[in-house]
Amino acid sequence: MSFPTLRAFRALFDADDRACFCADGHAPALADSRSNVSWRSARLARAASVAAALSLTAVLTAGFVAAPVADAKTPQPKAALDASAVAVPDRYAADTAQQIFAAGGNAVDAAVAISFTLAVTYPDAGNIGGGGFMTLYVDGKPYFLDYRETAPQRATRDMYLDEKGNVIPGLSLVGHRAVAVPGTVAGMWEAQKRFGKLKWKQVLAPAIKYATDGFTVDAWLQQRRDLAAKGFAGKTNFDAYFSNLKTGVVFRQPELAQTLSRIAADGGREFYEGQTADLIAKQMYGHGLITKTDLVQYKAVWRQPLAADWNGYRIVTAPPPSSGGIGLIQMLKMKADLKPQFDGLALNSEPYIHLIAQIEDRVFADRQQYMGDPDSYRVPVDRLIDDAYLAKRVEEITPDEVLGAASVKPGLGDSMPEKAQTTHFSVVDKWGNAVSNTYTLNGPFGSGVVVDGGGFVLNDEMDDFEAKAGVPNQSGVTSGDANTIAPNRRPLSSMTPTILLKDGKVSLVIGTPGASRILTTIFQVMTNLYDFNMPPADALAAMRFHHQLLPQKTIYYEPYQPIDGDLAAQLKARGYTLQGQTFNGDVQMIRIDGTTPQPAADPRGAGVGRVIQ
Ligand code: GLY
Repeated sequence: MSFPTLRAFRALFDADDRACFCADGHAPALADSRSNVSWRSARLARAASVAAALSLTAVLTAGFVAAPVADAKTPQPKAALDASAVAVPDRYAADTAQQIFAAGGNAVDAAVAISFTLAVTYPDAGNIGGGGFMTLYVDGKPYFLDYRETAPQRATRDMYLDEKGNVIPGLSLVGHRAVAVPGTVAGMWEAQKRFGKLKWKQVLAPAIKYATDGFTVDAWLQQRRDLAAKGFAGKTNFDAYFSNLKTGVVFRQPELAQTLSRIAADGGREFYEGQTADLIAKQMYGHGLITKTDLVQYKAVWRQPLAADWNGYRIVTAPPPSSGGIGLIQMLKMKADLKPQFDGLALNSEPYIHLIAQIEDRVFADRQQYMGDPDSYRVPVDRLIDDAYLAKRVEEITPDEVLGAASVKPGLGDSMPEKAQTTHFSVVDKWGNAVSNTYTLNGPFGSGVVVDGGGFVLNDEMDDFEAKAGVPNQSGVTSGDANTIAPNRRPLSSMTPTILLKDGKVSLVIGTPGASRILTTIFQVMTNLYDFNMPPADALAAMRFHHQLLPQKTIYYEPYQPIDGDLAAQLKARGYTLQGQTFNGDVQMIRIDGTTPQPAADPRGAGVGRVIQ
C-alpha cells in the first residue's frame, strides 16, 4: 500500500464515487509511496474535510441500520447458503454484522466492520493498535492476510536485557518499549478494498457510532479492566482513558471516534501516514521505538494460506509467522496416525490425555526450533506437515512414555495464560464466502499505553519474540533463532484462524484466542466434532486441557471444567503436575450443515452466534 492519489483521496469523501475510486473493481489506484505530493495536497484539504467527514459520518451512522446500500460494487451472485451467520465475542459485533448484511455487504465487509466494532466495545483485545491474521474463502478461492505487527526499525536483539544479560521483567509486556508497529488497520483496508462490496466508510460506521454514543459496560469487561489496571498502575496512561470502564456505565470514547472517523474519511493509510500516525509517533517519542517511518513503511502481506488434507476435508489455515496452522495440522495428522492407540479410549480419559500430551510435546518442540517470520527465516513448512515425517514422529510415542524435555529449561511455573488477550470471530455470507479472523493486542489492553489524542491502546506484541534464548515468554513458550528480535521482523504467533472445506465448499470456520493454547484448543474442538461426532454446542462445552512441552509434565486445566477426582489422581500417578489456569480459549465457530450455517459461541465467554437472514 502507498499514498492515495488526490483523486482517490477525494473519492473517499464522495459517497457516489466508489466506481471511480476502484477503477478495477477492487483496489484503488495508488501512487508510489515515495511520491507524497498527492498526500500532502490532500492533507491541506483535510482539516476542512475531516469536519465534513465527521458530519457525513454522523449522517451515515444515524441512518445506517435502515439504509440499504444501492451501489454495491458487483452484482450479487446466487445464494449458496440459507443465510449468513457470525460467531463473535460480543453482542455489539453481532449487531454490526447484522447491519452490514442488511446493507448488502458480504462476509469481508462484515468481518472488517466487526473488527472495528470490537476495537470499541472489546477494547482489551479488539483493536486498531494491534495486529492479526485473516483466513478467507472468497468466490471459491482461499486467501490469507498477514497483518501481524512488526518490530520497529530501532529494535535490537537484546533490547529487553540488562547489562548482565538478564531479561528485565515486564519490559516486553508493559509500556512503550513493548509496542510493535500495529497492523490491524492496514489489514482491514487491504481485505475490504480487495473483496468488500460496500464503501469503506460504511463498514466503519457502526464502530464510530459505538465510540460516539457509547456502549454499556458489562461486569466481565470491568473485571478484565480492573485486573489489567493493576499491572499498568503508575507505568502507563491507561487509567486516564479507561478508569470509567465500570459495569453499567455507557462508555463513550470521543477521541477514538475521531480516529475512526479520520480513517473512514481518508482510508486505511491515514493510520500510517496521517494525523493518527503523528499521534502515535508523538506518543512514542522519547519512550518507545516506533517512529513515523516505521508506520509509513508498514505493510499487510497476502500470503499463501497453509493447506492440508485431513479426514476428507481440506484445511485452510495460518502459515508462518503463525506456528498455529503447522501445529494444528501436525496434531490432527498425528492423532489420525495413532488411530489404533486411540480406538476405544474415552474422550478426556487419562490414557487419552496422555497420548494427546505426547503429541503436543512434539508439536511444541518443533515450534520452538523451526518457526519464525518466513520473510527472514526459512521455515521448513512442507517438511513439518509431511505425512511421512509425522508418521515417523508418532513411532516415538508409546502409551508408557514418560514425558519430558530434560535438556530444555523449564517454563515459568506460574505461566500466565490469563494475560493472553486476543480475540476471534467467524463469518459466512449467504454466497458461501467465509472469513476466519483472529487479532490481538497480546496482553489484555496490550501494553497499557494509550495514544493521547487517538484514544486507542497499543499492543505489547514484542513479547512474542524470544527476548533471550531459553527464557519463556508470557505464554510459557520458548522459541529459537528463528524468532529473535530484529528490525521489521514479525514475532512468532500462535493465532490459527482456520476454514475447513468439503468438496470445495465451506464446512467449518473456527478460531480462538489463547496464545499457545490456541492450537491445542482448536484441535480439541475439531476432534470433538469429527472424531466424536458431537454437535457444535457440545464440542465447545466439553472439557479442555493444555500441554506444551514446558513446563515439563504439566497439564493445565480450566476453571470451566477442572480436572479433579479420579482423573486428577490417575494423571498424577503417571507423573503429571496439574496446574489451573484462568483461561482456555473463547472459540467462535460456524459449522455448515448442508446449506445451513450453525454458528456457535464458546460457553466460556460472552460470545454470540447469530444466523442473519
Ligand atoms: N499474541 C498471541 C499470539 O500471537 O499468538
